[in-house]
Amino acid sequence: MLVATSLLACNFTKLAEQINTIEKHSDWLHFDVMDGNFVPNISFGSQILKDIAEDFDLFMDVHLMVKDPAFFCESFYQSGADLITFHYEAMDSIQSCRTLIDKIHSLGIKAGISIKPATDPAVLDQLLESLDLVLVMSVEPGFGGQGFIRESLAKIKTLALRKAANNYRYLIEVDGGVNDKNAHEILSAGADVLVSGSYIMKGDVEANIAKLRK
Ligand code: DX5
Ligand code: ZN
Repeated sequence: MLVATSLLACNFTKLAEQINTIEKHSDWLHFDVMDGNFVPNISFGSQILKDIAEDFDLFMDVHLMVKDPAFFCESFYQSGADLITFHYEAMDSIQSCRTLIDKIHSLGIKAGISIKPATDPAVLDQLLESLDLVLVMSVEPGFGGQGFIRESLAKIKTLALRKAANNYRYLIEVDGGVNDKNAHEILSAGADVLVSGSYIMKGDVEANIAKLRK
């Protein structure tokens, strides 16, 4: 399993120090991009990603919570994204999802799609073969520090079964309310990557990440 620590939970006056710790203990840096339109919050943009990617050796896991992901993906690629995940709900058709997956792949990086808590994973069926990652949102996107929605477990299991039955390659990533109490259950359901922000960044980061891996 992989741990993706969410930058959203960092203290921005201590950013270099905190990312230094994350770099030592976390597998990925999860970079939440919010446009104040697809979600009711604004986070950070590609310049911050560029500065971090230049100074740190971390896999940059970019989660676009924006209304027009096709417009933004090139600039996040230029800034150092290793994986770009966009939201199914931001797209107007399966064909537009497919076009964007191809565009991300043509840049030479990995492509993921995310679904919100109310979205049935079956909507992704025709796309699963071409995806590197499926991100199951286990809270409503927009804010850190919310409680894990337990219905997400069934969605993770469904995606894990489809993956095994068809020999697909996508990783299953889970984002929102993940902590040391629910990590085991989420991994047992079939998750490969745990995103965690407020749990990891509160207190001892190294010890918190170690508890997720247990
Ligand atoms: C929420 C973001 C999450 C968030 C998770 O919209 O996508 O990545 O940072 O934070 P916690 O772990 O606090 O739920
Ligand atoms: Zn996220």
